[in-house]
Amino acid sequence: MEEHVIAEATVIGSRDRDGKLTIPKSPFSPGDKVFKADENLIRQMLGLTRGDVYIGMLDGQDIKVNLDANNLVQKHCSILAKTGSGKSYTGGVIIEELLDKDVPLLIIDPHGEYATLKYPNDDKPEALQRFGIEPRGYADKVTVYTPANKTLNPGADKLFRLNGINLSTKDLRQLFPDERAQNQSGILFEAISKLKEERDTYTIDDIIYEVGQDKSKVKWNVINMLESLNETGILSDNATTVYDLVREGHASIIDMKGVNPDLQQMIVAKLGSELFEARKLNEVPPCMLVIEEAHNYCPEKGFDKTVSTDILRTIASEGRKFGLGLMVVSQRPARVDKNILSQCSTQIIMKVTNPNDLKAISKGLENMSSNVEEDIKRLSPGVAMIVSNYIERPIHVIIRTRKSKHGGASVPVVQTSFIEKIRDPPAERKKTVTGMRGIGSLLKIKPEEIKKAAKKEKIEPLENKEEIEEKERKKELLETKNKQKGHKGQKEPKEN
Ligand SMILES: Nc1ncnc2c1ncn2[C@@H]1O[C@H](COP(=O)(O)OP(=O)(O)OP(=O)(O)O)[C@@H](O)[C@H]1O
Ligand SMILES: [Mg+2]
Repeated sequence: MEEHVIAEATVIGSRDRDGKLTIPKSPFSPGDKVFKADENLIRQMLGLTRGDVYIGMLDGQDIKVNLDANNLVQKHCSILAKTGSGKSYTGGVIIEELLDKDVPLLIIDPHGEYATLKYPNDDKPEALQRFGIEPRGYADKVTVYTPANKTLNPGADKLFRLNGINLSTKDLRQLFPDERAQNQSGILFEAISKLKEERDTYTIDDIIYEVGQDKSKVKWNVINMLESLNETGILSDNATTVYDLVREGHASIIDMKGVNPDLQQMIVAKLGSELFEARKLNEVPPCMLVIEEAHNYCPEKGFDKTVSTDILRTIASEGRKFGLGLMVVSQRPARVDKNILSQCSTQIIMKVTNPNDLKAISKGLENMSSNVEEDIKRLSPGVAMIVSNYIERPIHVIIRTRKSKHGGASVPVVQTSFIEKIRDPPAERKKTVTGMRGIGSLLKIKPEEIKKAAKKEKIEPLENKEEIEEKERKKELLETKNKQKGHKGQKEPKEN
């Protein structure tokens, strides 16, 4: 039988003299020669000629993919994928690259995954060699802040505190996310105005006292919220400012471990506003704000209402003009404010299977072919589809190994039980172990334990050597005893 190799090709176009991609006006002739594209041509065609953020290798090719740092930061980027698909890992890769370029970063880290940026990756060297990188820790460039305390978060370097002196109505309004809060903020406004008239400095306790003087019943809601805020201990006269957090070549991580969600959103709202104002006045260097689990801080309308959505929306739409970039990471694209997602001109998409999330992603991708959803569903682990305003078409990239340690590794719920170890001993043990004999001594497990576990697993274990010998010894002893008994007890044949 004759075999034919058939390939399906799509015409991308050709570059004209100005470097623009144009579709050829005349069709190819049957029998035209086909050439293998070299690296240069592929780079040119895909628009991968510039870029300094090394993110990985083009899938199926030996070509490094570098994204453009300025484009990535100024024009924002999103990392979207279902849980466990490698969003935080990829976020870490980009953060490493930006730190190498001394871009200041402020990272909102709900699960405390980014503190490990401090330590070099201790994975197998082959994984790093494959991508031509060396392990590196960023301890000198990373500071971890906790809005909680050192007991809840012993790994943190510093405490994160908000200014508790002379709080304005605007500051506290962020506590009241919903519309019903109108008359509550009225009471606050009155109390704070009075305090401002009377003294130069006042604390939250003074505000609570003043609100308490109000005659309406609504005041109790206000007092309750102020008290709750006071109890968190987040307010201090030694506040952390954006000037402390945003520094050249430095990443500040706000590790939200142990902080209640309302307070987390308030912190993001406050930091976002301060950062935006500071950038407008050029008081801090151009930087990037990284929001992990963004669906919690800027949810899509109808899902939730948070105090941080508005400022994040403002940063997404106006941050570019002021050199304030946004990186949005989420496992639920459908639940992230779509105004924010649509402003991200680089989208890094990893495996997604939820139909709503797929729709939310594909809606945001303009002029994409119809099978993009199918492509996203089929992405392999560690591979991302990258769509960017300056890359000609979506590319598939194998995300490179991290230089620093990844902190979001999955935690096994069920530890490998030792009976599994017995059933499937590692290769080097298999050589010396036949069946389960002697496994107890190899694994330093007592024979009783093996028996107990085997009974639970309904397996008949072979006893170890000592046990067998012991049994045989006992058997022999018993037989000898029986024999002796037999001799003694044997009745003499009766003589007739
Ligand atoms: N490019 C990669 N190379 C090697 N390992 C990877 C890569 N991407 C992801 N992983 C591995 O996959 C696991 C999950 O990755 P990650 O923590 O980034 O998932 P996630 O999408 O952030 O999940 P979640 O939504 O739960 O936060 C990690 O333990 C990591 O080691
Ligand atoms: Mg994650």
